[in-house]
Amino acid sequence: MSNEHAERLHPVDLRGILHYVPQFRDQTFVIAVDGSVAAHENFQNIITDIAVLKSLAVRVVLVHGIGKQIKMIAEETTTPISDAYGSGPTDETTLKLALRAAGEVGHRIVGELQQNGLTSVEAGLARAVPMGIVDGVDHQHTGKLDKVDLALLERLMERDTIPVFGPVLFGRDGESLRVNSDLLAADLAARLDASKLIFLTPHPGLMAGGETYRNIPMEDLGALLKRHENGIDERVLSKARYAYNALEKGVTRAHILDGRVDGCLLIEVFDKVGLGTMIHANEYQQIRAAKKRDIEALHGIIRNAARSDALRYRTREALEHHIENFFVYEVDESLIGCTSISDLDDGSTAELGAVLVQPFYQGKGVGKKLVEYALKTAAKKDFKRVIALSTQTATFFTDVCGFKIGTTDDLPEAKKADHASNGRQSKVLIKEL
Ligand SMILES: CC(C)(COP(=O)(O)OP(=O)(O)OC[C@H]1O[C@@H](n2cnc3c(N)ncnc32)[C@H](O)[C@@H]1OP(=O)(O)O)[C@@H](O)C(=O)NCCC(=O)NCCS
Repeated sequence: MSNEHAERLHPVDLRGILHYVPQFRDQTFVIAVDGSVAAHENFQNIITDIAVLKSLAVRVVLVHGIGKQIKMIAEETTTPISDAYGSGPTDETTLKLALRAAGEVGHRIVGELQQNGLTSVEAGLARAVPMGIVDGVDHQHTGKLDKVDLALLERLMERDTIPVFGPVLFGRDGESLRVNSDLLAADLAARLDASKLIFLTPHPGLMAGGETYRNIPMEDLGALLKRHENGIDERVLSKARYAYNALEKGVTRAHILDGRVDGCLLIEVFDKVGLGTMIHANEYQQIRAAKKRDIEALHGIIRNAARSDALRYRTREALEHHIENFFVYEVDESLIGCTSISDLDDGSTAELGAVLVQPFYQGKGVGKKLVEYALKTAAKKDFKRVIALSTQTATFFTDVCGFKIGTTDDLPEAKKADHASNGRQSKVLIKEL
């Protein structure tokens, strides 16, 4: 651990960490450990840090690689191998070495977790498909993730058990397939809707042009990788690309860290400056303007919420008429939330309406993001204030979204009449922009 970092994380920082506890509670972190990191003396500290994360109610999934181990066995036995990392073709001989390496590394990891009081499960949690022929090259026994039993993983994590994935999975017919552990981790993170995908590597982070990048918005990553394509370590480049794919599928953050540094995980997660490279998604990338094709789904979710009187009902026709006022929040092409901004008078006051998140996704920050996005949009359109009318969620607007309680006197005339006549007795909430 460098002195700089040793000095940065003191026990007193526990107070700072407390601030993160509610933020990370029940969030999933997929941690991918390179084979060389699993073999490094610091690995024991990493396991201890995973125990700290677990104690803070973070759900952890571990994926490990075997690149270094395969190369070592190949060297010891003077066996030629076709590819060490599961990204190129895996021939019969290399598969045998991969099976041996995966067995040894997986066994060790499960044992070390156990020594730290952590329960884990390895084997049979996912199925792979052969990669097939890529760019004219038969990848033989190389595969990629096909199916994973998400419900089983959820149950394991609920029971405080760490699922551990090695880089050799079974195919449909029980055959062994070598998978690249970075790709596997990125796929798992996307399917588990993880909030963090963490690569523990033997590198200080994403280094390009003599610089280690600390914080990269995903929209800048593509250009950066293109600019320095030949100057970035091949293994790091592969992680950065898989990280990008995972972020595109909804994972919020990916980290490339030096797993040889004591405290790397905790420093990156709990220290504002961090230690390695963080690639982060655009916070609002899942929000977009509603389109005509959303009307059916929008109508359905609004109708359901209106049944409990949480929200005012809108007819299909009304939605069609005002669709340009709506924004939707989309996950995997399903619409899971919405809101709208409409002009209440002369372009100075807007109404924030139809704030809605589907029940399964509530409590994950989606509602807050939708409101923030709508407020930013209203500000861009030069509105001076935004009003929301709420029957059951006034405290969401005041405590979470920074609105103040107003009175009906704050409403423009036309809205005042509607408020008096519709009988909903909504509270008036105001946000000055
Ligand atoms: C209100 C609603 C949009 C919030 O969305 P969400 O994605 O669950 O909210 P977030 O995860 O962004 O915010 C969570 C915070 O809001 C608070 N919150 C959520 N629902 C709330 C409610 N009904 N009343 C008061 N506070 C609420 C949570 O306690 C949490 O607070 P915390 O951050 O201090 O823990 C969602 O619950 C919903 O769709 N409800 C049904 C429809 C509705 O009532 N819409 C409002 C119409 S005016």
